[in-house]
Amino acid sequence: MSELRFDGKVAVVTGAGHGLGRSHALALAERGAKVVVNDLGGALDGTGASTGPAADVVELITKNGGEAVASTDNVATPEGARAIVQSAIDAFGRVDIVINNAGILRDKSFGKMTVEEFDAVLAVHVRGSFLVSHAAFPYFKEQGYGRIVNTSSPAGLFGNFGQANYSTAKMGLVGLTKTLAIEGARAGIKANAIAPIAWTRMTEALFPAEFESKFTPERISTLVTFLAHESCETTGEVFSVGAGRVARVFVAEGPGWKQEGHTAEDIRDNWEAIMAEQPYLTPTTLGEQASASMKAMF
Ligand SMILES: NC(=O)c1ccc[n+]([C@@H]2O[C@H](COP(=O)([O-])OP(=O)(O)OC[C@H]3O[C@@H](n4cnc5c(N)ncnc54)[C@H](O)[C@@H]3O)[C@@H](O)[C@H]2O)c1
Repeated sequence: MSELRFDGKVAVVTGAGHGLGRSHALALAERGAKVVVNDLGGALDGTGASTGPAADVVELITKNGGEAVASTDNVATPEGARAIVQSAIDAFGRVDIVINNAGILRDKSFGKMTVEEFDAVLAVHVRGSFLVSHAAFPYFKEQGYGRIVNTSSPAGLFGNFGQANYSTAKMGLVGLTKTLAIEGARAGIKANAIAPIAWTRMTEALFPAEFESKFTPERISTLVTFLAHESCETTGEVFSVGAGRVARVFVAEGPGWKQEGHTAEDIRDNWEAIMAEQPYLTPTTLGEQASASMKAMF
């Protein structure tokens, strides 16, 4: 089987100074991509900034014989996002791949969570992914080609105590991914999302020590590498990934229950049918979902 190469391709990886992003940047560079290593260099909660982490990863890539430039811009501001994409254009003349990976945590139980804690997390994950993709989109359209990988989370797909802000953001990224897939289709732009589980500074306090050698960031980067590659035709999908396992996660609609002029009591009495999962549909657009619902209604 032929190796997946990225020669001539330019990738932007956000939050690439640590953890998953660092691993994605190294993996893409090793396979020939020129990489913009973006990282604000702050703490886990998004406070502070440092040029160190992005510079260190660039140094490592260069030492390994690859090509990379550092960016310490903030993904959460329009100027920052534009500057990140501009770094790719200035250094390498193009942009083909955006890996939206930058993220922060401000965990707090729902009743105690402040508006600032909610907004700060949405700003980096959702706004940041929107802004960086938005800055790259005109280049993708112009060249009729582009790959976007967004970073969701099982916490968003399934919910998690203490993460109202983070889960809202991570499920928001599923919506963004699906709509980007639809709007990018005609221009050859594919967008997918991953929901990883890996040992990084974000999770090391939560996981048992034996996870460190099993849940490595490199085991996430294999999927990201494939999703970022020209040969990947899949778009609008979400994948659970970690410790060597990869699985499609899909949004499905059950067969449903129908009765003209039903009452609230009818709903109560038919709850089992309403909750049924089989046979389910996995629509890929609102149009597909709506036409299936219409068919069931009339
Ligand atoms: N580790 C896991 O198990 C796990 C699970 C689900 C999702 N994720 C997601 O994966 C992504 C990477 O997380 P990680 O585990 O590698 O954590 P990490 O803290 O090691 O990496 C996140 C990086 O993003 C950078 N960053 C934060 N805000 C930024 C901003 N505004 N602009 C630019 N860079 C910024 C940080 O400096 C950091 O280097 C995050 O989006 C996270 O939510 C991780």
